[in-house]
Amino acid sequence: MSERNSRLPGFSKRSAEERLGEVARFAGVDRAELEPLTCPDNGLPQAIAAHMSENNVGRFSLPLGFATNFRVNARDYVVPMVIEEPSVVAAASFAARLLRAGDGIVACSTEPIMTGQIHFPEPPPEGVLERCLEERMGELKAALDRLHPRLLAAGGGFREARVRRLNHPDGHPLAVVHLHIDVRDAMGANAVNSMAEEAAPLFEAWTGARVGLRILSNLPKHRRVHVEGKVALAPGGGESALDPDEARRIVEASRFAEADPYRAVTANKGIMNGIDAVLLATGQDFRAVEAAAHAFAAYEGRYTALAKWRIEDEALVGRMDLPLALGTVGGITAVHPAVKANFKVLGVTEATRFSEIVAAVGLAQNLAATRALASEGIQRGHMRLHARNFAVQAGATEREVPEVVAAMVALGRSDQQAAIECLAELRRARSG
Ligand code: MEV
Repeated sequence: MSERNSRLPGFSKRSAEERLGEVARFAGVDRAELEPLTCPDNGLPQAIAAHMSENNVGRFSLPLGFATNFRVNARDYVVPMVIEEPSVVAAASFAARLLRAGDGIVACSTEPIMTGQIHFPEPPPEGVLERCLEERMGELKAALDRLHPRLLAAGGGFREARVRRLNHPDGHPLAVVHLHIDVRDAMGANAVNSMAEEAAPLFEAWTGARVGLRILSNLPKHRRVHVEGKVALAPGGGESALDPDEARRIVEASRFAEADPYRAVTANKGIMNGIDAVLLATGQDFRAVEAAAHAFAAYEGRYTALAKWRIEDEALVGRMDLPLALGTVGGITAVHPAVKANFKVLGVTEATRFSEIVAAVGLAQNLAATRALASEGIQRGHMRLHARNFAVQAGATEREVPEVVAAMVALGRSDQQAAIECLAELRRARSG
């Protein structure tokens, strides 16, 4: 049973301060704990930023918003999203509402297993590495786990190693040993890179073969999330249902993306709109996730859609499987005040639970984009949101923006000049 309700009707109509109050109430945290999300230094004091990366001169801001309505595995979530593109947060919230019935989006994840690669550019004869692993797996595990007591105490550590033999396209053979490491709640790059570096001299001593690279693989094929979402069908659609005809067009669009890499890239980009926005808000390595998602989409030898939609038992059902290497500890999660505040709102501490929410956002984003594309197209919604940007640029206050946008929509115009004229007209009407 979910103790929190992420259905926050009217959320988009409130002021930023009112929204933050609602988010704090939803998350059961004191409003003051969310201060880093609104304070003038964007939640990242210069003193911290200066030590994060090199040649630092300051900080760089992007809009932060919260998507409402999410329900994943019977628990409600309000999801922080950092994104400059209009429509994304609104679309995620819209689709999350369609997908909330019952337990909401059903997600399951594998254990958080990451892969470290030890590369042998001039591999020993076939059988040598394989025998070495057969005979020395226990020794390897003991040597690596001994150096990572904290990971071990958290329930993680070395799990197994496998040999992969490959051929360069020019025919030159090479070999790779994959270390599979359970990294628990960390993204895992540090633990895996360290273990790969620690294991390399052992393999050199055991086999006499020279090691080339020792590095994490950013294709975490064994660290995966599967999400499934369902929307009921009802003539005319509604808040929690889709019109059967709309659903059929979504399936058609899905099949297009499954068949055509040109369309699949765009559909997957839409999924990543949602995923990356959550990753930015939570201080994750979004480059790693992007690289993995697209490699995974092409893993069977042909780039295809990550999400698929079908009509089954009178419902529209979407499924997606995704590799996700995320961390709720390590990296900047313990240092960046806004990241810490966003995790408080999410209310998750386990990386696997967090990955399930992120994948759910990706699936919802895909549904929203596909529904819009398969019906009225995305430009109408976009125009409204662009109109908002123009209204803000024209100097409209938070209270004036909706009225300026409504006037622009009524005029059928979404440009800077229209915003200036509508704002002037609004103020004239008020003062008169
Ligand atoms: C735009 O940022 C994302 C979409 O193009 C995704 C899609 O086509 O599915 C709308």
